[in-house]
Amino acid sequence: MPRVLRTLKLLTVFAGFSLVWLCVRFPYETGHAAKKLLGLSPEVDPLTLHLKGEFVESNLGTAIDPDGSVTVRLIAQRYDFVPRCLLVPARTTVHFRITSADAVHRFSIDGTDDAVEVVPGHISELRAQFATPGEYKTPCHEFCGAGHYNMLSRIIVVRRNLFPGLKPDERTNCALP
Ligand code: CUA
Repeated sequence: MPRVLRTLKLLTVFAGFSLVWLCVRFPYETGHAAKKLLGLSPEVDPLTLHLKGEFVESNLGTAIDPDGSVTVRLIAQRYDFVPRCLLVPARTTVHFRITSADAVHRFSIDGTDDAVEVVPGHISELRAQFATPGEYKTPCHEFCGAGHYNMLSRIIVVRRNLFPGLKPDERTNCALP
C-alpha cells in the first residue's frame, strides 16, 4: 500500500509540474516564437520610453557603431516619427531601431522597398544602405488615425566622409547641407 501511495504522490507531482509548464511556460515559448517570426523583440515599455532605456531623447537619432556602420533610433507616435529629421552617411550600413509610443505604425522609406511595422512594446529593426547623398521621405504606411496621412520624417543622406565630423545634435538637423 505505501508503495501505491508513493507512486500516486509522484504522479501528482509530475502532473502538477506539467500543468504549470502548460499554463506558464508553453504560452511564453509560443508567444516568443511568434514574435521572433514577426521580427519583433519584446523589450520596451511604451509608457516609460522617455524616462529610461534605449529610447530616451538623448539616445534618439544617428549614432556611429564601433564597426563603422550607424544605428538610428526612432520613436513612432501619432503623428510623427521622432526625430523628424535624420542625417545618415551614404555607402554605409544603417541599422534602424524603432518603437511605437501608441498605435501600430509602418515606417517606410520612399523610393525603396524598405519598410517595417512598428508596434508598441517592441523594437522593430530594419537595415538599409543609401548609395548616394540625397533626401528621402519616410511616410507612415499603416493607418494610425486622423493624422496618418501627414505622418512622415525625412532622411538626409550626406557624403560618407562628412558624417563623422557632425555632432550628435547636428545629425538631426535638416537645416545643414
Ligand atoms: Cu502612423 Cu499612420
